[in-house]
Amino acid sequence: MAAQNHIPPRSVWLETYGCQMNIADSQLVTAVLRRAGYAAAARPEDADVILLNTCAIREHAEERIIGRLGDLARLKQARPGMRLGLLGCMAQHNRAALIEKAPWLDLIAGPDSYRRLPEMLGAERFDPAIDVRLNRGETYGDLAPEYEAGVRAYVTAMRGCDKFCAFCVVPYVRGRERSVAPDDILREVRGLAAAGVREIVLLGQTVNAYRAGETGFAALLRNVAGVAGIERIRFTSPHPSDMTPELIETMASEPKVQPYLHLPVQSGSDRVLAAMERGYTAGEYLALVARLRAAIPELALSTDIIVGFHGEQDDDFRATVELMRTVGYDSAFTFKYSVREHTRAFRLGDSVGEEEKGRRLSEIIALQESISRERNRALIGREFPVLVEGPARRGGGILAGKTPQFKTAVFPGHPEIAPGATVRVRVESATAHSLSCALA
Ligand code: SAH
Ligand code: SF4
Ligand code: F3S
Repeated sequence: MAAQNHIPPRSVWLETYGCQMNIADSQLVTAVLRRAGYAAAARPEDADVILLNTCAIREHAEERIIGRLGDLARLKQARPGMRLGLLGCMAQHNRAALIEKAPWLDLIAGPDSYRRLPEMLGAERFDPAIDVRLNRGETYGDLAPEYEAGVRAYVTAMRGCDKFCAFCVVPYVRGRERSVAPDDILREVRGLAAAGVREIVLLGQTVNAYRAGETGFAALLRNVAGVAGIERIRFTSPHPSDMTPELIETMASEPKVQPYLHLPVQSGSDRVLAAMERGYTAGEYLALVARLRAAIPELALSTDIIVGFHGEQDDDFRATVELMRTVGYDSAFTFKYSVREHTRAFRLGDSVGEEEKGRRLSEIIALQESISRERNRALIGREFPVLVEGPARRGGGILAGKTPQFKTAVFPGHPEIAPGATVRVRVESATAHSLSCALA
C-alpha cells in the first residue's frame, strides 16, 4: 500500500451539489486538474481521486452530502489508495467538524483554494491537506473552465457576497464580493461563442452588484452583447437593492438581454424582511417590479421564498402569500427556514415548528403551481422564438428549448432543426412547467 502513495493519482471523479456557481466552479476544477494531467474517471469505483463539490445553504443539503460521504468512505476502505476530498461551501463551513468526524478525508478545500488542488493532491508523499483560506483577491479570471458542450454556458462574473442576509451562510463560505475583470469575462465569452455557445448566463450571488473599475453591471451586459455569435444573455441572481435604473434601461433596450429575471424576495412581510436584513420593504420590492414591468412588458419573473424564518407569525406568512398573488410569479423556489451556524440569525432561534413550516411550504407550493399554470395557459396561441437545446426528456423525436422568458418549450423535431438554431413556435397547450408547441 505504501508504494501507492508515491504514484501520482491520474483519474478523478467529481460530484457537484448546490447552485449554478458550484457547477461553474466544478468546471474550473476540472480544467485545473486536466492541465495537471488528470483524466475523468468513468465511475467512482475506478477513480484514483473522488471529489465532492458541496453546498451548505440548508441543513438538508449538508445531510445529503454526509450520506454520500458514508458510501464513499466504504469504497475507500476497499481501495485504500484512493483519495477522497471535499470541496466547496460545506468544506468551508464545517471544516472543524469534518476534521473530527471524517478523519479519513484526504483533502478539504474551500472555494478559494482550487488553484492549489494539483499541489495538494499530487504531493510526492501525500499528506492529508486542508486549505480553507478565503482570499478576497481570487477570481480565477485567468483560468479557462472546462465547459460542457451545449448551446448555453454559465460564466462566473462575480464571486462571494457582501450582503450578509441574516439567514445566509454564503458570505461566510464564499468570502467577500469580488468581480472578474471584464477582459477575462469577454475572452471567455468569445471562446464560447467560437465553440458554438449561443446563450450566456452571467453568474454571481448578487451578480448585479458587479463592479470592476469603471465597469458596472449594465456596461458588462452591453460588452457581452457586443460579442458576435452570442444571441441571448441572462444573469442570475440579481439582488433587488442593486437593480439600478441604468440596468433596467439596458435590459429594456439591449435586444440580446432576455426578458426574464430571477428576483429573490424571501418574504412579503416588512417585519420579517427587516429581521432577515434584506435591505428593502415589500412595498419597495413591488415598486421595483412595477418599474421593471413598465420598462420590459414581456418580462417573466421568478423568485426565492423562505417560510418559517424565526419570528414569522401567521400574518407575516399571509403577507408573503399576498405578495405572491400580487406579483404573479412565473415560478418560485420555496424553502423551509434552516438555521445555519455562523449566520447573524443563528442566535435568534427557530421559533416556527417543523410541522408549521411544512404546512406553510405546502400552501405556497400549491399556490405557485396554480399561478404558474394560469400564466402559462395564458400563452396558448402566442408565438415565441425558441433556442433549440436538443431532444426533450420525453423522447419520441420531440425537441426542447427555452423561450426568451426561460420557459421550457417542447415541439416536434425536424431533420433540419439542430441544437443552437432558433425556431419560431406556437403554444398549443401548457402545464405549470412547460409549453407544448407546434412549429409556427
Ligand atoms: N444570492 C441569492 C440567493 C442565494 S441562496 C440572493 O440573494 O437572492 C438561494 C436561496 O436559498 C436564497 O434565495 C434563499 O431563498 C434560500 N436560503 C438561503 N439560506 C437559507 C436558509 N438558511 N434556510 C432556508 N433557505 C435559505
Ligand atoms: Fe445570501 Fe443574501 Fe448574499 Fe443572497 S444576498 S447570497 S441570500 S447573503
Ligand atoms: Fe450552496 Fe455554496 Fe451555492 S452554499 S447554494 S453551493 S454558493
